[in-house]
Amino acid sequence: MAIVPEVAARLAPLGIEVVVQSGAGAAARFPDQAYEEAGATVAADAPGALSGAAVVARVQPPTLDEVAQLPDGVSVVSFLQPVASAEVVAALAAKGATVYSLDLLPRISRAQSMDALSSQATVGGYRAGLSAAEHLAKFFPMFMTAAGTVPPAKVLVMGAGVAGLQAIATARRLGAVVRAYDVRAAAKEEVQSLGAHFVDLGLETQEGAGGYAKEQSEETIARQQELLAAEVAAADVVITTAQIPGRKAPVLVTEAMVAGMAQGAVIVDMAADSGGNCELSVPGEDVVVHGVTIVGLTNPPASMPTHASFLYARNIANFLGLVVKDGSLAPDFDDEIVAGTCVVRAGTVVHVPTAEALGLPAPSAATPDGSTGPDESKGAAS
Ligand code: NAI
Repeated sequence: MAIVPEVAARLAPLGIEVVVQSGAGAAARFPDQAYEEAGATVAADAPGALSGAAVVARVQPPTLDEVAQLPDGVSVVSFLQPVASAEVVAALAAKGATVYSLDLLPRISRAQSMDALSSQATVGGYRAGLSAAEHLAKFFPMFMTAAGTVPPAKVLVMGAGVAGLQAIATARRLGAVVRAYDVRAAAKEEVQSLGAHFVDLGLETQEGAGGYAKEQSEETIARQQELLAAEVAAADVVITTAQIPGRKAPVLVTEAMVAGMAQGAVIVDMAADSGGNCELSVPGEDVVVHGVTIVGLTNPPASMPTHASFLYARNIANFLGLVVKDGSLAPDFDDEIVAGTCVVRAGTVVHVPTAEALGLPAPSAATPDGSTGPDESKGAAS
């Protein structure tokens, strides 16, 4: 849910009137009544919620049918993955919309409070830790009991970005002994600060811009797999979170490595949706191969909707705080955050990779300087 009741109340002083479709918050445990108590208006259906809206805040991209229902010239804030959703972007452009995609948000300090990728990765990493503990037929913590001593579970986390660090913290809180690996040297200190051991493969790895990993060469990936085989074999649980923005996820765990694990071991693959860090993972399914349970974790925030929505709604509110001034939309397209997230500006596709995917002319030549949509501040959330 893109707006939760508490956030609806916070938006009112900014001059933003929130309208929600009846029942929209139910799955995240936010009833209509809570929105009404927070000062929002509950509309009976989608057309009622969208009528007259200046901004539509969403979690997922709209379908083509949903785009058809949007008011002309509306502004949309959502996770869009615009290149993958190019057809929807084209339909939004045809409506004269202005569209912001939060997955394009620059990873700069000023944008942290709006960083929905990070907030949802936090939820995902926590879920990955819990999912691993649920699937393992062993305890995570060490137990010293009258019946005997149980050793702690050994957890290996591959990829120590936002999600990986949260998976480490969750496994540590449950009492596991955690080792973690990342290609980025900067991850070492963060891993150690959580009480985990950083696995240093002594490899020369490539780092990309903005603190992200860069795609490694085939030789480096092959050497990583070779050096990580012993680490994987010794682990009760492997949690993988390694991603490269805009690329297929690197394969870090091969079938041979799975075959080398103990019976009952668990792999939780958080990259299952983007190709998988384990070559055997199936998105959205738990499969057992060579006696190892492989969990292809997809959209983990959906299984923790209350707090996933709470954090996402805060990100949305902070973003709206940037583009709404005195109750009216007034985005500054010279602002790095506004420019970085904007995919469509008043009907013109301005995000270069999306324009290319749609076969449109170079955006810089076509960027309009006109209006960005209705000058009202009524918003709808879904
Ligand atoms: P991500 O989701 O793109 O990737 C997850 C992790 O996988 C990264 O730590 C990456 O280094 C690692 N990885 C990629 N290929 C790998 C391989 N072959 N082997 C092992 N690990 C591999 O990244 P995420 O979590 O979204 O962010 C990564 C970094 O971006 C953060 O640690 C931070 O430095 C920066 N960041 C900055 C923010 C800000 O300043 N506003 C906010 C969030 C992140």
